[in-house]
Amino acid sequence: MSVTILGIESSCDDTSAAIVRDGFLLSNRIANQDVHRFFGGVVPELASRAHQQNIIPVVDLAMKEAGVKPNEISAVAFTRGPGLMGSLLVGASFSKGFAVARNIPLIAVNHLQGHVLALFVRRPTDNRQPITDNFQPSFPFLCLLVSGGHTQILIVRDHLDMEMIGQTIDDAAGEAFDKCGKVIGLPYPAGPVIDKLAKEGDPLAFTFSRPRISDLNYSFSGLKTSFLYFLRDRLREDPGFIGKNLNSLCASLQYTIVEILLNKLRQASKQTGIREIGLAGGVSANSALKAAVQAEAVKRRWNVCIPELAYTMDNAAMIAMTGYYKYLKGEFAGQDVAPLARM
Ligand code: KG4
Ligand code: ZN
Repeated sequence: MSVTILGIESSCDDTSAAIVRDGFLLSNRIANQDVHRFFGGVVPELASRAHQQNIIPVVDLAMKEAGVKPNEISAVAFTRGPGLMGSLLVGASFSKGFAVARNIPLIAVNHLQGHVLALFVRRPTDNRQPITDNFQPSFPFLCLLVSGGHTQILIVRDHLDMEMIGQTIDDAAGEAFDKCGKVIGLPYPAGPVIDKLAKEGDPLAFTFSRPRISDLNYSFSGLKTSFLYFLRDRLREDPGFIGKNLNSLCASLQYTIVEILLNKLRQASKQTGIREIGLAGGVSANSALKAAVQAEAVKRRWNVCIPELAYTMDNAAMIAMTGYYKYLKGEFAGQDVAPLARM
C-alpha cells in the first residue's frame, strides 16, 4: 500500500505544504510573507497572523496540485521546531486538527533535520517533467547546514541518524549576510541580493576580520562588527562610499563568509576522513559558496551534493520527506506534542 504524507512547514515566515507519496514529491506550495520586507527582518506577531491566513489555502493548493484527496493521506508531518513559537503553533495546531479529523498519525519533524533531507527530495516521472533522478549523497556524509538561523556541520549516517560536530557560537551565516546587508541599505533578506550584486564586484577589494575559533565551531559576530567599523571609518572620509562601492562591498563580504564556511568544512573532512559532502539550508543557494565547494571538490576528490534551489529555502517538501522516513520507522507523535522554539 502506498504511503502519502502531507508536510507542513511554518517555522519562520514561509507557510508551506507539500505532498510526498512513496518517497516522491508530488507538490510543494509556499506562501511567502512580503509584509516583513518593510521592517528589515521577520516580525514574529505578523508572521503568525500571516500563517493563520495562508495555511488552509496553501494546503488546499498542495493537495489539488498533487491530485490527492484528504482520505488518501496516510499521516501529517509538521515542523515542531526550532523556530518562532507563534509561527510553529499555527502549523502544529493545523496538523493536530487534521490528524484527529482523519484519524491518521501525526509526525513531529525537526526543521534542521528537514533541511538535511532536502538533499533526498525526488520528483516522480510524469508527462510534464523529465525524469529527475536527483543526485543524492551516500552515507555517511558531512552536511554543511547554513541558514538564517543555523550554521552547523553534521555527520549524517542515515536519513534519521545525524551527529552535530560543529556549530556557530553566535550568529548564523545567513544572519551575517542579512545584518551586514541591512547596514548597507539592502532589503531583507539581504543574502540573495548580496549574491547578485557581488557578481559585479571585486571579492578582494576589502578585507574583514576572520574568527579564531577552535574545533569545528563557527562565529560570525566579529565579522559583523568589523564590517560595521570599516564602514563607519570610510563613511567619515566619504559619505558616498557605500553607493560607489556597493558591488565590491558585497563581493568582499560574501568572499569572507564563504572562506570561513569552507575552512571548517575542509577541517571536518580531514578530521573524519569523509569526502562525501552535502550542503543544505537557505545559504546553500549562494552561488559563490557553491562554486567554492565545487572547486574544493576537484582538489580534494569530494563528492558534493546540493539540493535543488527550491528546496534550499524553507519549504514543506523537506518536512514531508522527513515525515516519510519517520513514517517508515513508526516514529509518531501524540496529540500532546508541543512545538519547541529551540531543539
Ligand atoms: O533556510 P532558510 O530559508 O531559513 C532559515 O531556516 O533560516 O534560510 C534563509 C537565509 C537568509 O538568511 C537568506 O539571506 C539566506 O538564507 N539566503 C542566501 C541566499 N539565498 C538565501 N544567502 C546568501 N546567498 C543566497 N543566494
Ligand atoms: Zn530553515
